[in-house]
Amino acid sequence: MNSKKYFEQVAQQWDAMRQSFFSENVREVAYATANVQAGKVAADIGAGTGFITEGLARKGLRVIAVDQSEAMLEAMKRKLKEFNVVDYRVGESERLPIEDETVDYVFANMYLHHVETPSEAIREMARVLSAGGKAVITDLDEHGFEFLKTEHHDRWMGFNREEIKQWFEKAGLRNVRVDCVGESCCAESGGGSESATVSIFVAFGEK
Ligand SMILES: C[S@@+](CC[C@H](N)C(=O)[O-])C[C@H]1O[C@@H](n2cnc3c(N)ncnc32)[C@H](O)[C@@H]1O
Repeated sequence: MNSKKYFEQVAQQWDAMRQSFFSENVREVAYATANVQAGKVAADIGAGTGFITEGLARKGLRVIAVDQSEAMLEAMKRKLKEFNVVDYRVGESERLPIEDETVDYVFANMYLHHVETPSEAIREMARVLSAGGKAVITDLDEHGFEFLKTEHHDRWMGFNREEIKQWFEKAGLRNVRVDCVGESCCAESGGGSESATVSIFVAFGEK
């Protein structure tokens, strides 16, 4: 099974799964890092069922939510039907369905470790940012838990923070920094034989 099929399959359970992995504090750190302002436009890449999108809509932003999985986006649409500020777009990391330099913020939570070429995914995120726009990625630090690849279809076993910083800078972003979110992602293997606790970083850069 590839990652797209995996997320199509878990779309209905994703919110419950997500709550067991990490808390709402992760998105609060992401919003604070970007210093989000009402009335602006944000893109949420690998948006899933709208963990990041929902908070942004509640804060008064318009959001372009992009995901490879129609099922994840459909689940978000049902959940966020009270909001008319979300534009749902099916799309892939290498070719985001967003025009150049059109958004004020770009967020991606727990997306990067699923994509084939993370440096390329970051370059695409930088492409869609307007001048002065801000990119914020929250994801896993490097870890050694193989079962996250086999059971959760992770492609990368987290990231080295220095490498993330270099990818941001190569994408043309400045004032780059990578900090701790102050929370870990926790998951148990299906058989219950192993449990993972992996720290989460927040990476920031400005166009
Ligand atoms: C772990 S989920 C995170 C979802 C959401 N950001 C959250 O925090 O709950 C990863 C999401 O990224 C999407 N995704 C993975 N690889 C992708 C790619 N190459 N292009 C677009 N979306 C992708 C998946 O379909 C899935 O919805």
